[in-house]
Order: sequence, then structure tokens, then C-alpha cells
Amino acid sequence: MASTASAIQAPKGTRDILPAESARWQAIERIARELATLYHFDEIRTPIFEHSELFHRGVGETTDIVSKETYTFSDREDRSLTLRPEGTAGVVRAVIEAGLLNDQGARVKVFYIGPNFRCEKPQKGRYRQHHQFGVETLGIAEADADVECILLQMEFYRRCGVKDLALRINSLGDAESKQRYRDALVKFISPAASTLSEESQRRLASNPLRILDSKDERDIKAIRGAPPAAEYLSEASAKHFTRARDLLGKANVPFTVDGTLVRGFDYYTGIVWEVTAAGLGAQNAIGGGGRYDNLVEMLGGRATPGVGFGSGLERLLIALEEQGVAIDTRQRPLVWLVSLGDAARDANWQLMQQLRAAGVRCDMDPTGRSAKSQFKLADREKAAWSVTTGDSELAGGTVSLKNLASGEQTSVPRDQIVAKLQSV
Ligand code: HAM
Repeated sequence: MASTASAIQAPKGTRDILPAESARWQAIERIARELATLYHFDEIRTPIFEHSELFHRGVGETTDIVSKETYTFSDREDRSLTLRPEGTAGVVRAVIEAGLLNDQGARVKVFYIGPNFRCEKPQKGRYRQHHQFGVETLGIAEADADVECILLQMEFYRRCGVKDLALRINSLGDAESKQRYRDALVKFISPAASTLSEESQRRLASNPLRILDSKDERDIKAIRGAPPAAEYLSEASAKHFTRARDLLGKANVPFTVDGTLVRGFDYYTGIVWEVTAAGLGAQNAIGGGGRYDNLVEMLGGRATPGVGFGSGLERLLIALEEQGVAIDTRQRPLVWLVSLGDAARDANWQLMQQLRAAGVRCDMDPTGRSAKSQFKLADREKAAWSVTTGDSELAGGTVSLKNLASGEQTSVPRDQIVAKLQSV
């Protein structure tokens, strides 16, 4: 009888990763873990909710992400908590709290894979819960650390097989450079302030750099000919930017310098970068990062430089699909145990435990259905091999092994089947 209760749907902007899809997720997560480990980054896992203040202070009160997109709620004791919209602030908070930066000259290199929450308008490649693979390097001020992150990120895409990538970089410089550039930009835009979009008119006072990032035609027109950030860099910031470009060149990583690239967080202080990929449509940023030399101090730690990136995993999978790239999901072949009668079923139950203990991926139908139904199920579950046991096999101490793709069938002594299947 059909249920009378109405079915509950997932919240808008969220997606279930169903069994048919999860092998692809595991594959890219495996590549991320292996690669991060190779570059000497260790994994960190932080809570998905934090005190709201962390994001207000860290990411920035006036950023769209904090002012419009966070999921913020009061818990039962009326504390304001926020689902993390990104990974960096929580990582920095955890590293300070655990005292990992306490020793003079301490450095921390960590990576993470996990969900983030932003209440944005959902569209292709933009969700309210999305996942990122990210890395953060704390305690290294040199541009070498920025470039190490970029190389890791680009190698991640290469190993996943994604093509048609474009890396853009820019530098807004340290706090002093950023302030000078901000003043210059306000001076440049102010005469045309009334022609800006309503949003950018507000930004002109609160966060003028974000106007550079606007997709609104009116804003694009108003900033045409605006001075590039590079002209306002302090000597130290300019030197850092030059070294990063040199190192990228030496590593043969193609990139373009984009003077209008600003990213949506207040914590960035120097180089910022973004990678776009073909096949993603409007939401084509597959990952981005940058330097944040003031964040540790802003969150109550000792002044420590930092740099890192975050890469959207949904967008990576969409790009791979749109580009027709097959992912190596590398699962072991599935073996299906078929039982003809109750005695065979009991024997297969034992055999299944032995096979699993030996690392052979296997399963069986315990319902006592006909051999035909069991083979049908094996087919539906995409088994590669079947092992059939009936009364005659039990009496003779054998099993019947079948390659389900070729149909080839052989009789194998029961005491050799585990070793045999270990080697297929
Ligand atoms: P972000 O650019 O906001 O940076 O996000 C990184 C990546 O996450 C984006 O390039 C995109 O691929 C993906 N992403 C962001 N929002 C969504 C969404 N709503 N739906 C699907 N994918 C999304 C950060 O989060 C910084 N914490 C990166 C960083 C780390 N900077 C320094 N360290």
C-alpha cells in the first residue's frame, strides 16, 4: 500500500551523493590525499560550525559571504553559531587554539576535505552545501610557499584529468598597499558613483575593491581604465609578487596576471589567484586561493603569515563530466556467490567470510531464491565473477567459477578458490 505521508525532500541547493556517484568522489579525494601527503601537508579536520564571531572577524563583516550568505543560528543556550562558509578561518582558529604556532619559527602545513555552507541562489556549480579540498601553509612568508600551493593545486587537476584550465593571479599587496589602492580606487570611481549599481554604491563606502569583481554592466563601465593594483604595491609586496611569477615561470605553469582579480574575503593581503575550467558555465572558478598574512593575528594568535587555496569538488566533477573525462574508480572486481540449496548457502556463507578476510570483494543473496534470480542480481550489481555451489560441488569439494563477462566457466577445488580469486 502506498504511504499516505508526503515524501520529504532535501533542502534546496543541497545534493545527495548517491551510491552510483560516490566512487567518483572517493577517487578524487584519494588523489587529493595522496598528493597533499606527497607535498608534506597533514590532514586537519575542524568542526562544521563555529562561533559566528570567527567568520565576522576572519572572513570580514562586509563581505557578501558573511553579510548575506551564512547559515547562522542560536543554539539552546543562545550562543550564535555559524555553519562554516569556507575552511581557512576554522583551520587558523584550530591551529592557534592547539598552540601549533607557539614555538619560534613554527610552521604548519595542513590540508582538509569537507563541506561548506553558503546560502546562495542555487545554479549549476553553485550549491548551498559544497565541498572543498583545501590546503593552508602557516609560518612561511616567502613566495615559495604561495607557489608550492599553486603547483599542488594544478597537479591535483592534472592527476584528476581536467583540461582547459586557466590560472589568473594578482596581488593587492600587504595592508598598507591595499589601503593605498583602496583610496586610489575610491578617488577614481567617486565621480561616477551615481552610475554604479545599487550594490556597488554601497560597496564604494564599505568594500570598494569588490566593485572590481562586479558582473553588472554599469559597474564594469565605471571601472574601465581604473588604475591597476600593481602600481600601489609596497616594495616588499612587489618583490614577493615578482618572485612568485618567476617561480611559476620556472615550473612551466602558464598563468596570466589579471589586475582586476579580487577575491571575496577580507583576509587576503598579497597574492590572490583563481583557476577556471572549461565546461562549468557561469560558475567557472574551480578553485582559488591567496595569501593572508594578518589573519592569525586578527584571530588572536601571534603574527604569522599564511597562504592557501580551496578547490570546489562539485565543480571539479562537473568539469570532468562535461569534458568527457573518465575517472579511474579502481574498485576491486565483485564476486557473487550463488547457492543451489540450503546446504550450499551455508557453505557459501562460510566461504564469503574467508574471501572477505582475504580481501576479495564479494556478496551473495541470502533469500534462497532460484539460481536464475541470483544470476540476475549478480548482473544488476555488476559482478565480474560468480562462484556457484550446489550439492554435486559440495560432494566433490569444488565450486564452479564463471567469468560473467566472457561466460567462461571452470571447476575449481574448494580449497583453492580463495587464492584464485585473490589473483584476479
Ligand atoms: P572560495 O573561492 O570562496 O575560496 O572557494 C573555493 C572554491 O570552492 C571555489 O573556487 C569554488 O570552486 C568552490 N565553491 C565556492 N562556493 C561554492 C558554491 N556555493 N557551490 C559550489 N562550489 C563552491 C575559499 O573558500 C577560501 N577559503 C580559499 C582559500 C584557502 N584561500 C586561502 N586558503
